[in-house]
Amino acid sequence: MKKVILSGIQPTGILHIGNYFGAIENWVGLTDEFECFYTIVDLHAITIDYDPEELKKLVRETGATLIACGLTPENCALFVQSHVREHTELCWLFNTLTALGSLERMTQFKDKSAQHKENINAGLLNYPILQAADIAMYRADLVPVGEDQSQHLELTREIVRKFNRKFGDTFPLPETRIGRAPRILGLDGKNKMSKSLDNDIPITDDYDEIMKKLAPAVTDERRKRLSDPGVPEDCNLFTIHKLVTPEEKIKEIHEGCTSAGIGCLDCKKILAQNLADHLKPVRTRKQELDEHPDEVHDILEKGAEKARVKAQETMSMVRERMGIG
Ligand code: TRP
Ligand code: SF4
Repeated sequence: MKKVILSGIQPTGILHIGNYFGAIENWVGLTDEFECFYTIVDLHAITIDYDPEELKKLVRETGATLIACGLTPENCALFVQSHVREHTELCWLFNTLTALGSLERMTQFKDKSAQHKENINAGLLNYPILQAADIAMYRADLVPVGEDQSQHLELTREIVRKFNRKFGDTFPLPETRIGRAPRILGLDGKNKMSKSLDNDIPITDDYDEIMKKLAPAVTDERRKRLSDPGVPEDCNLFTIHKLVTPEEKIKEIHEGCTSAGIGCLDCKKILAQNLADHLKPVRTRKQELDEHPDEVHDILEKGAEKARVKAQETMSMVRERMGIG
């Protein structure tokens, strides 16, 4: 029997290269070997202020981008979290197994309540319980996520352990799987790449668009003039280079940077070209999907159908063991 994978992504619309190299590329790769469930977490998204119409649009756009990246109804179940009602039910049941203190310790909760002081709702606190429900619902063995989710995964294991102890062995202890680029910084070279900080490169950008973003991007600060040598290891763009540029060329750039033989602008042009080439299939497929929105809708519905089968199976077991329903 294949091991089961589940992961979730926020509906932020068009994904950026941080999402892609940090998570989605890994998601696609794992579909060969595992039974994969991937969900667009709209129920998590509503824990901060949002506009309902805008949310719908973002969910569709995120779905289309994920499909363009290579997720298909054949290789995984890609679905919208709220389309599988069981998630909210299991979340409630897990509420009763979660210590308040564990929730209050979560750094994401602390960060988000500091960012959204006017709307510190219970959903924001209970966010990781819903995440635990997402994972346990499919009895997932592995969860591919970025480093920033390790604490949530630890809490998931805490909840699962408690359930198994109280009600009998039901869920595997899920393990975290970190991708090849766990943390990609934004073009400011300081913060994590994120759409809301406007320091990102969307994966559907072409060469010109990428170049427009890269031109002002922060590089190694030692390279004030063309003749100043730099340290590639201190340049965020070099990290991105390594994801898309062949090894031979990487050596050449490293050499050129440390000897001031290549300027940052030329280095950025090479990077823009390689990124644009690497992501061309995604860009093309996304354009096709934009012309056929029904296809996206159908794929998400198929994914939800597949997910529901497993979710219903899990929930009958859970209700039975918890003595409800
Ligand atoms: N909290 C995750 C994030 O912000 C998204 C998420 C929701 C998730 N449910 C999940 C990730 C389940 C992994 C498994 O990125
Ligand atoms: Fe970064 Fe390239 Fe400039 Fe070196 S030459 S600092 S690697 S952008």
